[in-house]
Amino acid sequence: MTNRIAGLRRGLTNYGDRDFSLYLRRSFARSMGYSREILERPVVGIANTGSGFNNCHRHFPEMLEAVKRGVLVAGGLPIEFPTISLGEVFLSPTSLKYRNLMSIDTEEMIRAQPMDAVVLMGGCDKTVPAQLMGAVSAGLPAVMLVAGPMMTGRHKGERLGACTDCRRFWARYRAGEVNAEEIAEVEGNLAVTAGTCAVMGTASTMACIAEAIGMILPGTAAIPAVHADRLRAAEATGVAAVNLIGSAVTPNRIVNQKSVENALRVLLALGGSTNAIIHLTAIAGRAGVPVTLDQFNRLSDTTPVLVNLKPVGNGYMEDFFAAGGMGALLRELKPLLHLDCVTVTGDTLRERLEDDDADYVDRTIIAAREQPFEPQGGLVALFGNLAPKGAILKRSAADAKLFEHEGTAVVFSSLEDLAARIDDPALEVKPEDILVLQNAGPHSPEAMPEAGYLPIPKKLAQRGVKDMVRISDARMSGTAFGTIVLHVTPDAASGGPLGLVRNGDRIRLSVKERRIELLVDDAALKQRVAPAHPDAQKPTRGYAKLYAEQILGADEGCDFAFLRPQ
Ligand code: FES
Repeated sequence: MTNRIAGLRRGLTNYGDRDFSLYLRRSFARSMGYSREILERPVVGIANTGSGFNNCHRHFPEMLEAVKRGVLVAGGLPIEFPTISLGEVFLSPTSLKYRNLMSIDTEEMIRAQPMDAVVLMGGCDKTVPAQLMGAVSAGLPAVMLVAGPMMTGRHKGERLGACTDCRRFWARYRAGEVNAEEIAEVEGNLAVTAGTCAVMGTASTMACIAEAIGMILPGTAAIPAVHADRLRAAEATGVAAVNLIGSAVTPNRIVNQKSVENALRVLLALGGSTNAIIHLTAIAGRAGVPVTLDQFNRLSDTTPVLVNLKPVGNGYMEDFFAAGGMGALLRELKPLLHLDCVTVTGDTLRERLEDDDADYVDRTIIAAREQPFEPQGGLVALFGNLAPKGAILKRSAADAKLFEHEGTAVVFSSLEDLAARIDDPALEVKPEDILVLQNAGPHSPEAMPEAGYLPIPKKLAQRGVKDMVRISDARMSGTAFGTIVLHVTPDAASGGPLGLVRNGDRIRLSVKERRIELLVDDAALKQRVAPAHPDAQKPTRGYAKLYAEQILGADEGCDFAFLRPQ
């Protein structure tokens, strides 16, 4: 796509007469009350993902006004347009299934409509990666504006934030420690403002990654959704979008090998969401930059955990913002980062950090590099005969006592099987066993939901068991915790060895050796056939068909094959 300034002249509708096309376009634009003069301005499109099915974006009308103000002040014409929005908890079977659809929508609407630059307004889990994937593919100057995190609520004097505390209270309810009346009371206090989940879940991790990679304005990732600074950031984003018009600083240039490595460092230092690995792999893939799990482990070994937020630590996003936010974190990581990466402001990361003269840092939330919360990164990749193409463990959210563990497999062949049997008093399971969930990966009909956080079987939970090794080809919410091996690749539905595990098999996990092994010899495994999934028939129409035909594995970011650069 060309980046010359064209305003409404860009990409004319084809009537076989260009002058007539422009005449008609201007006429219809003027029907919306625009003057002829303002229609001569360069156009900034604003991809607005406000939706009644997205609680996290409910403040977007106010943010949108601030973006428009910034664009107008800087001499541009702001024109908003809707795209698909993905409200995490309102989508079935899982929002990840629709991330690629949203990325197509974003890419094509940027390309098809007359705009010289675009502001991407996103926030809830899959919206930021979808917009970045689409923007990288579209190649037009773009700047991201995130929703910002929710503020915390209160329950009996205790701070609550979605969604780590949702899971904590639900686990206590399942264990009989909290009654139905109290759990209903808690329900009303978990998500109390607009904005994305209040902990370092997927949305917050992706916002921080977007800043680390250079796609949002400096210092804006962690501003709470309801803070006045969020509106000031929105106004500044509008100005920045106008400044980008005609420039070569496009998302496909901002996202490169070095900036992706910076983003991986930040992800590890945050102890961020496992989902972010999939999303970052997909975003980088659109720019032709590979992300491998070997590379990931190398970075993990040399990147300390510097942030103390739930679900790994204690704080919430509002604390991270008050503690110094991304500026403080990037200053600590400076010796590990590629500083010559260009950002949406046109400045390099080095220039950004040189301009940053903030000196206050709350060390209970953001540690100094010499005194980290953990000496190594919060996430680690595992390999072995159970996961030939890798699996992920969030060691910072896991019980270190289970890092070197061998146990007997208790297998659930699908999510339906899990739901039917996990709380059955007759289920044969011991605390030292390993729970295995099959057929919940990207190639399954469930499309890789956040089901990897298998509940502790009720009869063990009631005995006080808080953690067990759990293995699946599913994902886990960024707000969850436990010794949970995820994203096993290839997944069971695409013929991976996970589908061959049987009840009673022995499995060995070694975080030290980065291994996940099924202790069954090859000859015996070759005799086994994976059971067919109950819903294994291929979809015959619509998006489900496209998904089934094009979906790639977790190691390729679960993108669609035809969307990767050729
Ligand atoms: Fe939107 Fe958690 S539900 S970020």
